[in-house]
Amino acid sequence: MKHKKDWFKELVIYQIYPRSFQDGNGDGIGDLKGMAERLDYLKELGINAVWMSPVYASPNVDNGYDISDYYRIMEEFGTMEDWEAFRDGAHERGIAIIMDLVLNHSSDLHPWFQESKKSRDNKFSDYYIWRDPAEDGGAPNGWLSVFGGSAWEYVPERGQYYLHFFARQQPDLNWANDEAREKILDIVRFWNKKGVDGYRIDAISYLDKGLDGRADMSQAFGTSSCANLEGTHQYIQEMVAKTIAPDHLMTVGEVIVNTPQDAWNYTSASRGEFNMAIPFIPPIVEIETWSPTNFKKNLAETYETLKKDGWWARFLSNHDKPRQVSLYGNDGAYWKESAKMLASYLHTLPGSPFVFQGEEIGMTNIKLPSIDDYNDIDTRNYYKTMLQEGASEEEALRVSQNISRDNARTPMQWNSSVHGGFSLAEPWLPVNPNYREINVEQQLQDEDSIFHFYQKLIRLRKENPVMVYGDFQLVSETEGPVIAFIRSLEGTAWLAVHNFSEEEQKLCWDGVRADSEVILSNYSSREGRDGEIPLRAYETVIVKLS
Ligand code: GLC
Ligand code: CA
Repeated sequence: MKHKKDWFKELVIYQIYPRSFQDGNGDGIGDLKGMAERLDYLKELGINAVWMSPVYASPNVDNGYDISDYYRIMEEFGTMEDWEAFRDGAHERGIAIIMDLVLNHSSDLHPWFQESKKSRDNKFSDYYIWRDPAEDGGAPNGWLSVFGGSAWEYVPERGQYYLHFFARQQPDLNWANDEAREKILDIVRFWNKKGVDGYRIDAISYLDKGLDGRADMSQAFGTSSCANLEGTHQYIQEMVAKTIAPDHLMTVGEVIVNTPQDAWNYTSASRGEFNMAIPFIPPIVEIETWSPTNFKKNLAETYETLKKDGWWARFLSNHDKPRQVSLYGNDGAYWKESAKMLASYLHTLPGSPFVFQGEEIGMTNIKLPSIDDYNDIDTRNYYKTMLQEGASEEEALRVSQNISRDNARTPMQWNSSVHGGFSLAEPWLPVNPNYREINVEQQLQDEDSIFHFYQKLIRLRKENPVMVYGDFQLVSETEGPVIAFIRSLEGTAWLAVHNFSEEEQKLCWDGVRADSEVILSNYSSREGRDGEIPLRAYETVIVKLS
């Protein structure tokens, strides 16, 4: 597809986690053939872009985020022909293809690493980050990896340690090496030629490690120590200028955002980096710190900072987070109301909405009975660390159940037949037992379903430029569970009000009248007065002011 400069602003991006979307050959693992079979479903939902989590050859230590061959498709997912068929099917339906680029690290089984670890003086020796042991023979510094344990691993053949910010099977690539960098850019060029429309770029804040003293060595985590160094921005600018900017491909970087300025640095059009950014927050931090009040502070700040020439990736879910209705809503008594409220919040904010597979039917977290049932490497390591630190098995399991990325990765619930219609075989990760009540087939038949609510929101966005290009102004109090704002564009003004609680609330706003037109709501009736909107549990309402 040919792209104009700012086309990414009109995207609604659907994230597919291929392993869990649809099994097309009956082995219990989702694949490209299965994805292609569901393109009509995606078309019906109305989205216009798909971001697929990695589908390249991988030993799957971190489910595809450890790539052993960037030019091949993972056997379990199919062949390059299957990928091409999916691409063509998507393009025929006006759906853009966004690939996941994992360029901070490769798999330890990648041939570059296999060579690199052999000796200090071969062609690939410097493709990764190698350091001599500290004086006592231990790791070069005390950095910990994101998935637990030291970020350094010793290799006897070289008598050196290599750096891995994630699992030890995910060695960090050395972007400071000119030849390695060009080889990395070749990967992007290859996929460009294959007709990709954009990229989600994984864990990209740490390309420059700052090991020469610029990183903050006092921090425990390597990833926090060196996030967002100037060198990283230079590498990104070089990559974008050489491979992405010429064709206006869409980019969204997964980055560390400590301040609004960080977000601007990655997304300002003036800097030639990304179109938008996905800020990474570890699930445990998010569970403990999120609140509607914090959402509002963040919305106001980032809007002011980015409104001139930046843009926002809006998401409440992805493959690294708990299910949104379980985290921010109420997956019990107000399951449907809160799932719709969150949908409305997502789509009424400025920026491009990201919908993670299954959120459009309100899929929920799962509690697996034993740690052995979990697949996520992060969960398994975290559990071990908790036991080492003295937690009981019950406590460690309870925390693991809450934070596990497997909450998002259970198979898509298509219908009420065996394994939720995901596969006829035993799936690689259990289907959530609530698939008999929560599934696509049921919701397609129900006019009032969460699915149809998403469909309406996506359609509204297509038909009303105010949702894409409108200015944004918060109108609710900073404190409290109501998030309300006005979007306005050339004489049109919409008020969007969201109650993030099960208690009744009230929004007072002068411009609203009892008979103001309601564009969308998750309750069927409204008893408004002039200047006031009463809100029931998790109520969301979009009102036309002018
Ligand atoms: C990103 C991915 C996550 C992966 C990690 C390492 O955070 O979203 O799934 O484990 O990077 O590649
Ligand atoms: Ca399969």
